[in-house]
Amino acid sequence: MSEHTPLAQAHGQRATKAVIPAAGLATRFLPATKAVPKELLPVVDRPVLQYIVEEASRAGINDVLLITGRGKTSMVDHFDRQPYLEARLEAKGDMERLAAVRGTSELAEIYTCRQGEPLGLGHAVSYAESHVGDAPFVVLLGDEFTEESQPLLPQMIELQSRTGGIVLAFIEIPEDQVNRYGIASVSEAPEYADVENVVRVTGLVEKPSREEAPSNLAVVGRYVLPGTIFDAIRRTKPGSGGEIQLTDAMALLLAEGTPVHGIVYRGHRYDTGMPLGYLQAVVQLASERDDLGPAFTEWLKSFVAGLDRNAGKAA
Ligand code: UTP
Repeated sequence: MSEHTPLAQAHGQRATKAVIPAAGLATRFLPATKAVPKELLPVVDRPVLQYIVEEASRAGINDVLLITGRGKTSMVDHFDRQPYLEARLEAKGDMERLAAVRGTSELAEIYTCRQGEPLGLGHAVSYAESHVGDAPFVVLLGDEFTEESQPLLPQMIELQSRTGGIVLAFIEIPEDQVNRYGIASVSEAPEYADVENVVRVTGLVEKPSREEAPSNLAVVGRYVLPGTIFDAIRRTKPGSGGEIQLTDAMALLLAEGTPVHGIVYRGHRYDTGMPLGYLQAVVQLASERDDLGPAFTEWLKSFVAGLDRNAGKAA
């Protein structure tokens, strides 16, 4: 094992802090994201970022570092107190909205840090070093979140505290989509057989062709990383797109003997980083809401029936 992998130091320690890199340019959602961060796009009546902080909070994490960039400071305001607004709601007796507004500032302690230039996800994560030190920590990408009733982070955090290494999350994707994701080669993990849906990761390839793909397990935006990742990022040269890639830094640790495991997630993952996934998230979550769902789905059914009728006429 190399001098760069002091594995034992992290053993038994649980990740208690989360980092949300949210400094990217969001080019797939332009022009909406020219002035509005994609992390603040509303899904029904909450911004995407709130779902993500809630996901961390439900996993017991109440220390969240937001990596922000140019034009993105409004993200932090969302988690701040709004005394004037709160006083107005209180005076009107609108206790439900008052609780919703206050609730965002009570979810977690939010810290921020600025990535001067968006030079890649690895580069963004490197800014967290002075905040998290050498303890393990969670990374949640700022444009996706998981189903509330199917939590993923608690198992990942627990597994990482046992392995001391890297823990990733995967979803199974259709084979014709492998060229859009980071894909893992995996083997069984008999030493962690008590953990549901666990695999040992033996390699990672970024956006392979269908022929080259070692599996259909795609990396999603949840990671539990050991503190050694910071040194690995420092040793990582710019990769695809000239950016410092987190995947390259993780591959370096893997090659040097850090154990890397993954949990295959069977719940629903909402990917709001581009219009199609965003629309699906809005429709699905609106349909499930007790207050909006019945009226919304009734309208949706008649709308889709109208589309079907029009398609039938055109055929
Ligand atoms: P994406 O690959 O989704 O990039 O980054 P992006 O810039 O947000 O969006 P597109 O691809 O141009 O449409 C994944 C996550 O990493 C963050 C992003 O904000 C997003 O949450 N990120 C990426 C940074 O914080 N800094 C970077 O330099 C790159």
